[in-house]
Amino acid sequence: MASATAGPVRVEHLVTSGTFSLDGGTWDVDNNVWLVGDDREVLVVDAAHDADAIAAAVGDRRVVAIVCTHAHDDHVDAAPALAERTGAPVLLHPDDLELWKLTHPDRAPDGELADRQELDVAGTTLTVLHTPGHCRGAVSLHAPELGTVFTGDTLFAGGPGATGRSFSDFPTIIESIRERLLTLPPETVVRTGHGDSTTIGAESGHVQEWIARGH
Ligand SMILES: [Fe+2]
Repeated sequence: MASATAGPVRVEHLVTSGTFSLDGGTWDVDNNVWLVGDDREVLVVDAAHDADAIAAAVGDRRVVAIVCTHAHDDHVDAAPALAERTGAPVLLHPDDLELWKLTHPDRAPDGELADRQELDVAGTTLTVLHTPGHCRGAVSLHAPELGTVFTGDTLFAGGPGATGRSFSDFPTIIESIRERLLTLPPETVVRTGHGDSTTIGAESGHVQEWIARGH
């Protein structure tokens, strides 16, 4: 456990704005950036769009890692700049390196994420769940002590992330959601890459609808 002077372990949140580009299209997007930690140190989930805004939210705390849920440009565009400011390593699942290079051809991630890997911050643990489908190297981060899972663009309030573009596959995302996410406790809060949070229990009854509609 973290000492009392470090304050409670908690999840903080900011929304940053920019664009997402892939396959020749560009769209305006708002992204959720999540900070997990206490008064001393934090782990950043998805350094999206605005390194200044994220650094301001971090304040004088140590950043233990910048974890990328996947390498779509809207989720990683500010990762190298935030790493430079904080000294923290950028971590990405290697199956998304091809996507990463579309945005950052001259700057590799600093480390690899692997399924079942445990990331420690402020005395709590986040377990990496490889959840491909939205893209090949998509991961979710389960923090059992905090009762939450960070799903990136794999699972949103209302269904799976998009699978219509390159590196995506709908049957694969359904399998990931079914086997890796909907098996978590139903009260688990799902914190997503865009938009509102939900819970595992609120989403779990809708899989057949998603399959029937095909997205
Ligand atoms: Fe995405």
